Amino acid sequence: MNSASLDVGDARIEVVRGDITKENLDAIVNAANSSLLGGGGVDGAIHSAGGAKILEECRRLGGCATGDAKITTAGNLPARFVIHTVGPVYRDGKAGEAELLASCFRQSIEVAEEHGLRSLAFPAISCGVYGYPISQAAPIAIETVRAALERTRSVKLARFVLFSEADYSTFEEALNALS
Ligand code: AR6
Repeated sequence: MNSASLDVGDARIEVVRGDITKENLDAIVNAANSSLLGGGGVDGAIHSAGGAKILEECRRLGGCATGDAKITTAGNLPARFVIHTVGPVYRDGKAGEAELLASCFRQSIEVAEEHGLRSLAFPAISCGVYGYPISQAAPIAIETVRAALERTRSVKLARFVLFSEADYSTFEEALNALS
């Protein structure tokens, strides 16, 4: 079916398979690096589909710490904003990776709240180039977002957009584990 959802009070978590650059929610979250000046993976896809305007705004942000998040407009993308967050590079799981990964989701939602946004889409932060095992990252992502949605004022939809069938299944399983 390639979509699953969980209601959290009057908010909702969705898990779908797709390309995050195509999402027309209020914001999409970018799995960036601390320079915020672009890269490969989802970062490359967002900058290439969104155009030069995003990079121009990123240059003025002065980088971003791991676990933190910053916002720009979305250039030519269907979304209104891009929230750039920097996930941890996975080492051995004992270097604070889980807390830093959770922080990416919390801070992204906090930035969305500060801007009164209603809906945002997340990729599998850190699960590509940064090497976080997706089976460990998915439950952290889902549980952190669920807890945050219990307290949000404006954010009512968090959609995880997974690129591959295997990644989708892992997130669907993590969502079902909470239902
Ligand atoms: N839509 C949704 N998900 C995607 C898309 C897309 N268009 N493209 C890739 N993914 P990665 P990271 C998935 O490597 O691990 C960059 O160079 C991908 O399959 O993009 O946080 C940055 O500049 C994977 O599951 O991010 C940093 O240097 C997930 O997005 C570094 O990579 C994240 O993979 C960040 O590494």
